[in-house]
Amino acid sequence: MIQEHEAEFEPAATRRDAGDAESSRASRGWWDRNADEYQTDHGAFLGDDRFVWGPEGLDEADAALLGPVESLNGLDVLEIGAGAAQCSRWLAAQGARPVALDLSHRQLQHALRIDGGEVPLVEADAGALPFADGSFDLACSAYGAVPFVADPVRVFREVRRVLRPGGRWVFSVTHPIRWAFPDEPGPEGLSVAASYFDRTPYVEQDEAGQAVYVEHHRTLGDRVRDVVAGGFRLIDLVEPEWPAWNTQEWGGWSPLRGNLLPGTAIFVCERD
Ligand SMILES: C[S@@+](CC[C@H](N)C(=O)[O-])C[C@H]1O[C@@H](n2cnc3c(N)ncnc32)[C@H](O)[C@@H]1O
Repeated sequence: MIQEHEAEFEPAATRRDAGDAESSRASRGWWDRNADEYQTDHGAFLGDDRFVWGPEGLDEADAALLGPVESLNGLDVLEIGAGAAQCSRWLAAQGARPVALDLSHRQLQHALRIDGGEVPLVEADAGALPFADGSFDLACSAYGAVPFVADPVRVFREVRRVLRPGGRWVFSVTHPIRWAFPDEPGPEGLSVAASYFDRTPYVEQDEAGQAVYVEHHRTLGDRVRDVVAGGFRLIDLVEPEWPAWNTQEWGGWSPLRGNLLPGTAIFVCERD
């Protein structure tokens, strides 16, 4: 007998409030379901042991946003929203002692697949870091956690708590200006379609109205205020330009849009 397969459910996209618990639950589920596809699609670009800040391909080996590469030797570093821990592996190669933290079990399984457990992995939410105060010299995140949480200040305060005095916290997120444009790599992604000032989260939800994917928007000013409220000084805000060598599209990030609009914002922060 041939069994009939139900058509796969297409989540409905909407804009509505989504709190911390709902956002976290949605992120865990979404990244567990989509980790395989993410690593298949982007693993080659990310490399197993490169530290890439975003789809533009800005490499920490060149940017040195965490500090001079030679100074990383011997430092304890926390990578938040590490995915398959590519950045942590690069840090380990520089002599640092990284710990890769992620909410998604499946993403961390990809880390294990790549290095067999060389980088220590922790499955936890960025809003409640399971580490003692002052455990790390540096913290970093390439598009991990921050765009997906309802309360980024809670995350920043946690990061501050686990950092030692003077520690740097460097994180990249989708550049806030992108919120106003459709998430499309082609010309349709060049016309403003929504208010930059509307902070209502983007939510995909199932038939029961449960969020299955959530992304939170903060304006550039909001992000600066959040960094300060989290107990950090902002020492740089990097907007990587699209390099000529990068001909690859990544979702809504493309050479076409990258040459006209910033796609990534990287916040370089320091605690006192
Ligand atoms: C866009 S991926 C980036 C992964 C990796 N940094 C990279 O560059 O490939 C976002 C990651 O953040 C993780 N994440 C989302 N919300 C999180 C949270 N609240 N706490 C910890 N990790 C979270 C996801 O599971 C996912 O692995």
